[in-house]
Amino acid sequence: MRDFLSVTDVKKEQVVKLWNLATNLKKRPIGGALRDRNILLLFEKPSTRTRVSFEVGVNQLSGHPIYMDSSSSQLSRGESIEDTAHTLDRYIDIVVARVYKHEDLIKLALAMEKPVVNALSDIEHPCQGLSDLFTINEKLGRIDGVNIAYVGDPNNVFNSLVLGAAIMGARVILASPKGYMPRKAIVDRAEEIQRGSLKMAESPAAAVKGADVVYSDVFVSMGDEKQREERLRAFLPTYQVNTKLLDKAPKKALFMHCLPAHYGEETTKEAVYGPRSIVFDQAENKLHVQKAILTDMIDDLK
Ligand code: CP
Ligand code: NVA
Repeated sequence: MRDFLSVTDVKKEQVVKLWNLATNLKKRPIGGALRDRNILLLFEKPSTRTRVSFEVGVNQLSGHPIYMDSSSSQLSRGESIEDTAHTLDRYIDIVVARVYKHEDLIKLALAMEKPVVNALSDIEHPCQGLSDLFTINEKLGRIDGVNIAYVGDPNNVFNSLVLGAAIMGARVILASPKGYMPRKAIVDRAEEIQRGSLKMAESPAAAVKGADVVYSDVFVSMGDEKQREERLRAFLPTYQVNTKLLDKAPKKALFMHCLPAHYGEETTKEAVYGPRSIVFDQAENKLHVQKAILTDMIDDLK
């Protein structure tokens, strides 16, 4: 793996290898895979889970994490992405970047010799997608043929989940309002990877009927704040994943949310703390899967 900008940068066999590695790392978290390696976390947006799990993960593998908020870097004063990339290449082994514009991530990755990992952009959140599918596989003991109902905004988290599901033989059934349809490029790519891997449902109730997993994420992603009022009008109350909607899913269906949750918007406290919820196991698994991704990248650099 050179860079990990999109879930589609890995093939099914690689995902299986990464998941096996993540399972081993979950059992034995401490090791030396990143010894003497410096991993830069370059973040333009806030983060709790991704930042802390990457920092802890690098420490557990004997490497050195360096966090740089991009507003405190020279990027904020107009230094180009290319000059930044050539400089970082001289110090850093891997850059883990969270950005507003996916195209900036591509620019960074193209300019750098060292690998770049997408820690969330406006288009994808591939570490989240890979880790969420790992969690589903861990909980259900299978991923092939699993039905994931996604209710809400087809955003970055949705895009990585759908593409990852297509690679692994799972299906996503989306319920979203008119005017919030998934990007054509994502729909086409998912269909190309596995026909029928993304289906549109007429309503949230129709989406969750027959679901193994019900997935929710925020209605207003970082960067969409200006559209907050119109988004809340479009999504509420119909697309909220609450216990009433979850009760329409099969009894065994699990509830997932990448967090942070906005209670009273896309979900409720009762759903997140309810018996179906696996959201904190999901948060934990980010640590193990991200460590597997970094380990695999470092192996390729050797
Ligand atoms: N799920 C996730 O990426 O959370 P953070 O924004 O806290 O990193
Ligand atoms: N879709 C959300 C995910 C946050 C982890 C956002 O981009 O803000």
